Amino acid sequence: MDLLNQIKNNAKKHNKRIVLPESTEERTLKAADELLAEGIAQIILTGNPEEIKHKATELSLSNIDKALIIDPKNHVKKEEYINLMVEIRKNKGLTREDAAKLVENPLYLATIMIKNGDADGEVAGAENATGDVLRPAFQYVKTKPGISVVSGAFLMILKDRQFGNNGLMVFADCAVHPNPTDKELAEIAVATGATTRAIAGIEPRIAMLSFSTKGSAKHEMVDKVVNATKMAQEMDPSLKIDGEMQADAAIVEAIGQKKAPGSEIAGKANVLVFPTLETGNIAYKLVQRMAGAEAVGPVLQGMAAPINDLSRGCSVSDIVNLVAITANQAAGN
Ligand code: ACO
Repeated sequence: MDLLNQIKNNAKKHNKRIVLPESTEERTLKAADELLAEGIAQIILTGNPEEIKHKATELSLSNIDKALIIDPKNHVKKEEYINLMVEIRKNKGLTREDAAKLVENPLYLATIMIKNGDADGEVAGAENATGDVLRPAFQYVKTKPGISVVSGAFLMILKDRQFGNNGLMVFADCAVHPNPTDKELAEIAVATGATTRAIAGIEPRIAMLSFSTKGSAKHEMVDKVVNATKMAQEMDPSLKIDGEMQADAAIVEAIGQKKAPGSEIAGKANVLVFPTLETGNIAYKLVQRMAGAEAVGPVLQGMAAPINDLSRGCSVSDIVNLVAITANQAAGN
């Protein structure tokens, strides 16, 4: 069975509650219908119930009546959520008036539902920019204990099976944190190792990428990756991790042996950790478009509950896949 089917089947066993706050967006509604038909997760839609039902009828979707629909303007827990929002953000000066407005925004409503234990995860981003999806999540759900930074990994399913594990690789951070410090980059590496085990189901071999391999260039940007590699090894000694190294040394055996002789990772990496968001985001999009790879994600890592962000160019199946991944994360996988 392929990886995505495994992830979907596992999600079915756990039947988690996933909120889709962009409820009248066409691809989202079609994905919700498919998820409900297949029983991959319980689906919560936030929006005007009449509008959602009308749109579902227009699109001939027959499973939407199995979703729980929460109207942001009028539902029984509205006051409870406002109180919780004020409690969480009072030190940031959030007033009841501000909270009463925010709670009617489906992206804020989704995160406060998760915080209150009324949902297990969220997928959004088909029509909202990444920052607008992530900001409420950072503010109300926050990071896991001991983690200071959220980052985004992609499962890259490559046509060329010689790379990674039979063509499966994980790239990070491709989605969230523009310019990590050395410590933050180490946290990103450790979190990506955990995602690789839990979601990709493979043992990570992590390459910390740079424009230098084992001291071939001297620059403060190289020093950052060298320090991050050491810190990540200390944070999680169970991880196989090496750097700094160039991308060719990480994935091509002959070059890895030449540039980093004796490295357990060089030439064999199945996880690539990029030094900045721009390098990671550019790299995953080039591999996706030029090498025809399937890019599944971004899977957000480090958040206290699973909240995942779609690309606005996503397809219905991208949404279905990301909901299944989110449900797996919620189940603790
Ligand atoms: N992890 C955890 N918390 C964070 C992170 C992070 N990576 N970044 C910001 N925060 C927290 C801050 O601590 C702050 O919390 P507070 O209000 O409790 O003090 C809150 O989030 C807001 O922080 P700001 O610094 O104001 O962050 P801002 O909202 O300006 O930016 C954002 C955060 C939106 C994620 C920004 O880093 C960003 O735009 N990143 C790029 C996202 C993007 O465009 N990615 C590429 C497209 S995705 C794709 O192609 C798949």
